[in-house]
Amino acid sequence: MNAIQRTIFATIIGVALAPFTFGCGESADAPAPPKPAERAPAPPPAKPPAPPAPAKGPDTASDQNAAVEADAKAGNADYQVFCASCHGETGEGDGPVAQALDPKPARHSDGAYMNRLTDDYLFKVIKFGGASVGKSAMMAPLGGSLSDQQIRNVIAFIRTLADPPYQP
Ligand code: HEC
Repeated sequence: MNAIQRTIFATIIGVALAPFTFGCGESADAPAPPKPAERAPAPPPAKPPAPPAPAKGPDTASDQNAAVEADAKAGNADYQVFCASCHGETGEGDGPVAQALDPKPARHSDGAYMNRLTDDYLFKVIKFGGASVGKSAMMAPLGGSLSDQQIRNVIAFIRTLADPPYQP
């Protein structure tokens, strides 16, 4: 009888404690929700460029290869919207706004310079701006306009511009 009672008690205690376990988990995550709410305003403008995404559908034949190619392609699209005005359509640093800037926008086609920069560093510069790495604040933080995935796509595209070619 004792053994059965213990089993019953153990079950009851287990069930009784479960809500607390989940409760703690939820309260720990609680601080997170506000962030999505704050970011909410940003995504809407980002959605218009999203339409190209459906185009990925047909490419899903070979998942991995398509994904790798799509990244640089998607990055190209965002690059033309968010970077080309300063850095130029092909990363020559000759966008229409470049003339007014000092220092000049980096030449992303300059492999000798760009290939030395790591993906992590580029990610930081693009997301948090030039000032975050001691560079000109004219290199604006674009984390409000581009998602982390979009930034990675843009980096993948930048890598295709380098001459001499970038070798991971
Ligand atoms: C308003 C103009 C402007 C726009 C838009 C802009 N940049 Fe820049 N960017 C600059 C300037 C100016 C520099 C040079 C900063 C310096 O040398 O201090 C720079 C530098 C850089 C660098 C080199 C950092 C280094 O360490 O030399 C990278 C990488 C870069 N930009 C990426 C981007 C990407 C990617 C985008 C688009 C998502 C973008 N930039 C949009 C102006 C701009």
